[in-house]
Amino acid sequence: MPRSLWTTPETVVLERRIVDRDEDTLVLGIETSCDETSASVVKGGREILSNVIVSQVDLHGEYGGIVPEIASRAHVEALTPAIGEALRDADLTFWDVDAIAATLGPGLIGSLLVGVAEGKSIAAVLQVPFVGVNHLEGHLYSNLLADQTAEFPAVALIISGGHTMLVHAKGHGDYEVMGGTIDDAAGEAFDKVARFLGLDYPGGPEIDRLSLLGDPTAIHFPRAMLGEGSFDVSYSGLKTSVINYVRKAESRGEQVSVENVAASFQQAVVDVQVTKTIAATKAAGVHRVFLCGGVAANSGLRQGLAEACQRDGFSLHVPPLELCTDNAAMIAACATQMLRRGRTSSLNASPDPNLPLV
Ligand code: KG4
Ligand code: ZN
Repeated sequence: MPRSLWTTPETVVLERRIVDRDEDTLVLGIETSCDETSASVVKGGREILSNVIVSQVDLHGEYGGIVPEIASRAHVEALTPAIGEALRDADLTFWDVDAIAATLGPGLIGSLLVGVAEGKSIAAVLQVPFVGVNHLEGHLYSNLLADQTAEFPAVALIISGGHTMLVHAKGHGDYEVMGGTIDDAAGEAFDKVARFLGLDYPGGPEIDRLSLLGDPTAIHFPRAMLGEGSFDVSYSGLKTSVINYVRKAESRGEQVSVENVAASFQQAVVDVQVTKTIAATKAAGVHRVFLCGGVAANSGLRQGLAEACQRDGFSLHVPPLELCTDNAAMIAACATQMLRRGRTSSLNASPDPNLPLV
């Protein structure tokens, strides 16, 4: 008979197994902050035993953006099976796990609640620590998971549909937010411009694809640098500028090249992000750059940042895509470090949609 995930060991029930060696610690991570349901088991903070990611992108596609109510319902349906699959992939049962971690915020409150409630419940039954993790801190750990040579200190560009932020990660739990978007996240700008151009959701990959067919110098869109020494970015002006350009051209009866608009828009985003990231790295006095978040998939950004880092002698780390986008492995890895510092959460911990990194 197959072993149930809840089958208790014969001798030990609530008396926890003692982890002799730190590198054997097994953490079950849960991530439900936005539109990906994910569960993962990570060993010793750096070895991924499983990483199950269930994307909701098809559910939200017809609305052109994430619908929070649909997202929470989908998490409720997907999370328990995802946890089961993560344990089976790792060839473990619940009783092997030393701690449970879940994303506490930032994110959509209804989505966060699903993961936190389930994570706390499992921790209570197993009598193991519960670790509430900051989603942005989790993203930093995707780089450490992907590359065993990657270490803090580093400057990380976290860039996705939900966040755009430059963080000086000085050490575990020691972060300084150097700058961020003052309006739209970069991925959000990609999605909004794509929607205006009549492209499918999510628009980032579509713009990236069309950019390869267009001329990035065809149209000069503004690069909002927001003053000398600022590491902040702004995308609402750029977005409006794209819309105005297309409307004006159409009103003059001109044929608009979607490829050129896409390529010129993408180049404007890349120029701003590369300039700011390099300036932040120099200001922080470090030599390592981490790139993470869904927009890290962008071919122009990867290439632009790689060239700039090479020019300045910085090493650039970009995790594979399944670790760039939202995933539970990064949450489990981050939680393992928090456990080492005794940073567990109480079972009263509540999700916080606006949880700050520091
Ligand atoms: O990290 P992610 O999966 O979810 C969060 O937003 O947290 O990122 C999704 C975002 C979307 O806005 C999507 O359009 C963007 O990342 N994206 C891209 C590319 N692939 C995904 N943006 C630009 N170029 C891409 N190749
Ligand atoms: Zn994220």
